[in-house]
Amino acid sequence: MVLVQVSLVLVTLVSSTFCGVSPAPHTPNGKIVVCNYETKSHMREGQGKFELSFLEPALQYCTHLLYGYAAIKEDTLKLVPLNEQFDVIKDNYRHVTDLKIKYPKLKVLLSVGGNEDVSGEGSEKNLKYRQVLESSAHRLAFINSLHTIVKGYGFDGADLAWELPETKAKKIKSGFGKFWSSVKKTFTGDSVIDENAQEHRDQFTALVRELKNTFKPDNFLVSLTVLPNVNSTVYYDPRALAPHVDFVTLHAFDFYTPQRNPKLADFPAPLYELIDRRTDENADAWVKYWLSNGFPANKLILGIPTYGRTWKLEADSNVETVPLEGLDGPGPAGPLTKDAGILSYPEICVRVQGGTGNVSPSGYRKIPDSTNRRGSYAYKPKDPEKDEDGIWIAYEDPSAAANKAAYVRSKGLAGIAVDDLTLDDFRGVCTQNKYSILRAAVSAL
Ligand SMILES: *[C@@H]1O[C@H](CO)[C@@H](O)[C@H](O)[C@H]1NC(C)=O
Repeated sequence: MVLVQVSLVLVTLVSSTFCGVSPAPHTPNGKIVVCNYETKSHMREGQGKFELSFLEPALQYCTHLLYGYAAIKEDTLKLVPLNEQFDVIKDNYRHVTDLKIKYPKLKVLLSVGGNEDVSGEGSEKNLKYRQVLESSAHRLAFINSLHTIVKGYGFDGADLAWELPETKAKKIKSGFGKFWSSVKKTFTGDSVIDENAQEHRDQFTALVRELKNTFKPDNFLVSLTVLPNVNSTVYYDPRALAPHVDFVTLHAFDFYTPQRNPKLADFPAPLYELIDRRTDENADAWVKYWLSNGFPANKLILGIPTYGRTWKLEADSNVETVPLEGLDGPGPAGPLTKDAGILSYPEICVRVQGGTGNVSPSGYRKIPDSTNRRGSYAYKPKDPEKDEDGIWIAYEDPSAAANKAAYVRSKGLAGIAVDDLTLDDFRGVCTQNKYSILRAAVSAL
């Protein structure tokens, strides 16, 4: 027995030293580093296009890689690839799980939902995610189809980024009428009033318990991602879920987006409560909810975004105070991501870096977060001489990411999740050093 162990150690040493095997993932203090990988990035063009090989410089920092995303088929309510052509026919599932040959400690999980698998509108929006929950037969069919794909393609488990109805912020703080009534009027996203929220909460717990039982013989992992604007107090029962999950990731960001709040720009991802804001729209409040309702800190993960949210500025927009009111929707699309209202970290970094004082050579005024509570922002007013739109950007930079990781360390949480790798600086466009957000967060952990 002893001999076998010694020779195993030797084999490991020899292979990692001499056979070009990369070092095991760097896991500071045994913390978990979940790296989200959104495959829609492969469909972008030019410098924004992601290739599988770009994952490698990140993988030395990641303990878990989440493949985003898999979908639910509306008529059968079974799990299916979101992009059959890319995931299966071009074999990307297999290419990704094969990364474990080179990174033997890496765990690769298939993530379901993630707001990428969209169906229906209005009250029918993402109805299939509630339908799966509603009978034990549906849950069983879903679980079996997920198990088949996880096992068949060599994943280490599954993550449920379940698309439960988003809640609309509606409480009006008295004495702060103006701001809150504007929030109320400017919310335009689909909102679903879920009459059966309590049942769905219990059925979701049942789904997770049944999934863990099915996965047990294979030792597959089960994790959950709480999506932005899904109200944990409504849908998640932390104490009941705890025994059946390996970890839970809180995507406590996107409280404000130009799609949900086209007329009002505010910090999308504050760490702590800000003055005159709702008490539950910050990461700290989410963490406190889970911890104070019986969920163990050593299974709780805080998500960190690698992007910013943008709003368009008019010539007369008032940028003196945040939130900004009376705006007109998403800022112009960036050259890499080509999507209105969002910019990846490298797209922001090249705009705001350099210069003396706080105005960059490309004309952006930067307001760093001296409070370590809210995140940074930058803006470029509309130039009346030019045709170009002005833009207001609130974003996570490496120091905000490090600040959230330091919070995780100080609260004794399990780790961080970076959402996602493909919006971090994977080419080293801005600073030469690739993955600035991921690296800053990991070194503060
Ligand atoms: C979340 O739900 C609770 C009730 O369980 C409610 O008090 C709170 O206002 C909700 N939060 C949001 C952002 O809607």
